[in-house]
Amino acid sequence: MSSQRTSIHGQWSSRLVFILAATGSAVGLGNIWRFPYVAGENGGGAFVIVYLLCVALIGVPIMIAEVMLGRRGRRSPINTMRALARDEGHNPRWEYLGWLGILAGFMILSFYSVVAGWTLAYVFRSASGMFAAMDAEAISMAFDSLVSDPERLLAWHTVFMIMVTVVVARGVKSGLEQAVRFLMPALFVLLVAMVGYAMGNGEFARGLEYLFSPDFSKLTPTGVLEAAGQAFFSLSLGMGAIMIYGSYLSSKASIPRTVGIIALVDTLVALLAGLAIFPIVFAAGLEPAGGPGLIFKTLPVAFGQMPGGAFFGTLFFVLLLFAAWTSAISLLEPIVAWLVENRGVNRIKGAAAGGGLAWLLGVPSLLSLNLWSDYTLFGKGFFDLMDYTTANVMLPLGGLLIALFAGWKLARAASEKELALAPGPVYEAWRFLTRYVVPLAILLVMLNVTGVLAVLSGMGR
Ligand code: PHE
Repeated sequence: MSSQRTSIHGQWSSRLVFILAATGSAVGLGNIWRFPYVAGENGGGAFVIVYLLCVALIGVPIMIAEVMLGRRGRRSPINTMRALARDEGHNPRWEYLGWLGILAGFMILSFYSVVAGWTLAYVFRSASGMFAAMDAEAISMAFDSLVSDPERLLAWHTVFMIMVTVVVARGVKSGLEQAVRFLMPALFVLLVAMVGYAMGNGEFARGLEYLFSPDFSKLTPTGVLEAAGQAFFSLSLGMGAIMIYGSYLSSKASIPRTVGIIALVDTLVALLAGLAIFPIVFAAGLEPAGGPGLIFKTLPVAFGQMPGGAFFGTLFFVLLLFAAWTSAISLLEPIVAWLVENRGVNRIKGAAAGGGLAWLLGVPSLLSLNLWSDYTLFGKGFFDLMDYTTANVMLPLGGLLIALFAGWKLARAASEKELALAPGPVYEAWRFLTRYVVPLAILLVMLNVTGVLAVLSGMGR
């Protein structure tokens, strides 16, 4: 019977370990680097409200579905989807959902590693104490000079990808568990301290207003799509990372409760990051719409001024690095699990192949920030294109398919059993959201944007 499958890759030693690993996957650059910059580009408040709605109404039901499918299939997302579709007497082509995820995983990991490389560089920059003597403008220029240097970017990108590959090669359990157990709480505490600093020294009231008082006239249909995309990206949804982690979860753990905790922590970290960053943005006279460099241009301003700034700055970027590390590991894991299952290689070879390919794909990303900055498609360079398409197109599409499968294709008895919920309000709410609300919302958000693009390009006339 399908629910008695076991994974050949092992199992988490407890529900807590799963929570830590999944939180490690969810909390990463998406919360601290991406959330503030995307929110800033979309005008703040209204974007944040739509983001929170997307997390609650779309993200949580999909995460429940993804963990559930993973635990029922107990294999890499491709094989899980094929097996579950077969169990239920459906078309085995559902496995393409897994392939979409593998592709998205490669694409995200490639630029993710470039940004994690910036974080690595900033560990050393903070430790050197160089920010102490700099004003906001000099700090901005220091970031621009890093990004315009392809050799340095390549070096840091390479170091990070090796770090990820090594952990995945050794198996997710040994190194990873320890990292998330201590470092994630430490990151949380340090973020709270940064918010404290921003309260005392930044324009906190303005930052607060910027993040939480919605001005819906600033929100475009593209902004709505980006809020949904950010929810998928931040919660690691729609590409199989959470599915593969679910496949290592014991059959006894309660999925909905667990998912609730993960989504809550992920959201808190993003909001804390926003509360730490925007007051500094305003106090330093910077633009909220500063783009992907935002945190690297603002937080060092604070570290440059506070007592012990070199210490706290170094600590902050080290912790951010660990957050990025645990997320990147979950991006590579589904790929490696598939290579092990279907290509008969061991984890070491699988990790090297997967990591190597993602590394290669990262090279055009980092070159698009400097030498290749003139080559654009739809007005975006390669880096932006990867970031934009994965978060706003591929992950929502993956999420849509997951919801359709879990809500419509999987027998009711099966999801009821996996979710260990007797027929009751929570189960009914999940099922209703997954069958109707999630698919409709994703479709509306995506179509809306296509409509706007059509008008923009004159096709609407
Ligand atoms: N959720 C991670 C972050 O916020 C990124 C990620 C996306 C990880 C998709 C896995 C899958 O940084």
